[in-house]
Amino acid sequence: MKTITLTMPLDMHVHLRDGEMLETVAPLTSYSFSGALVMPNLVPPVTTLEAVKSYRSRIKKAMESDDFEPYMTLFYQNYSRTFLESVQDDITAIKLYPSGVTTNSEGGVSSFDIESMRETLEAMSDLGIVLSVHGETNGFVMDREAEFMSVYEMLASNFPKLKIVMEHITTAEAVEMLDRYDNLYATITVHHLMITLDDVAGGMLRPHLFCKPIAKRPHDRAALLNVALAAHPKVMFGSDSAPHPKHTKESCGCGAGVFTAPIALQLLCEIFEAHDKLDNLQAFVSDNAQRIYGICAEYKEVVLEKRDFHVPELYGSVVPMRAGEILTWSIERVD
Ligand code: DOR
Ligand code: ZN
Repeated sequence: MKTITLTMPLDMHVHLRDGEMLETVAPLTSYSFSGALVMPNLVPPVTTLEAVKSYRSRIKKAMESDDFEPYMTLFYQNYSRTFLESVQDDITAIKLYPSGVTTNSEGGVSSFDIESMRETLEAMSDLGIVLSVHGETNGFVMDREAEFMSVYEMLASNFPKLKIVMEHITTAEAVEMLDRYDNLYATITVHHLMITLDDVAGGMLRPHLFCKPIAKRPHDRAALLNVALAAHPKVMFGSDSAPHPKHTKESCGCGAGVFTAPIALQLLCEIFEAHDKLDNLQAFVSDNAQRIYGICAEYKEVVLEKRDFHVPELYGSVVPMRAGEILTWSIERVD
């Protein structure tokens, strides 16, 4: 039986939510990953040291294993240096959302005025706090990420020591940006390696594949695959697994988010195997992230086996990607 062992897999972009949803999804991520960068777009967003600490303890309580580290984030606001010094040991990154571009982002940044952001970004740069960015404008849906590239260029060139992660990139334009600025990095989801807009809306509408940023064109997906399969040193896996209850996805006014946490590693094995690049998967799901973020993950070995996995129709109230289908790789054990 063909197997692969992944050591210390990391999901560098995940939505764990809160309350009942947290109870459902946290154990799924903590089972197969050593750690995950946890997004702060709760209602209200995570903006204080107390909120970071209490959210972290709720996550720890909801997990079913101790060998998992939730890497915490704050929701970007123009924070003072003094505040950032007080919180730096409790967070790994600050997540910037442009206002209104996605789920619970209303309190995000409404104008990218570099002078008003300078104190915060300089302090983050000095303290080694990573800036994680949802890079979309409010423009035409297919162009939003490409239109955001000038903001990345402005941030990267004004703050050359600040590590900036372009989250869940979906375009060839974002891939090109990686080699242009030393301080720009990216996460890539598993669904954006698999689908294009055609899968979402080309036939019957598939609400469970609807997310922000929306999947793009075949040549964009090819550009993402190219860097992910090569484990380009500046890209990392970040699932952007974003659970929404079934009734809110299957409704008029479907929320954005694809739920992949329990199948992400299996799908990555399928993709990397299909391109004969399984040898690069370890770097994509762990080594690159550890180097970029300077983190030393909790030790864990996840053994995957080439054996059918029947994806459940539901996890709690959430429909996963590929629900009811059969994947060709399974998690055999976690040590
Ligand atoms: O599809 C998405 N869902 N994209 C995001 O940026 C947010 C996320 C969510 O929180 O549901
Ligand atoms: Zn996200």
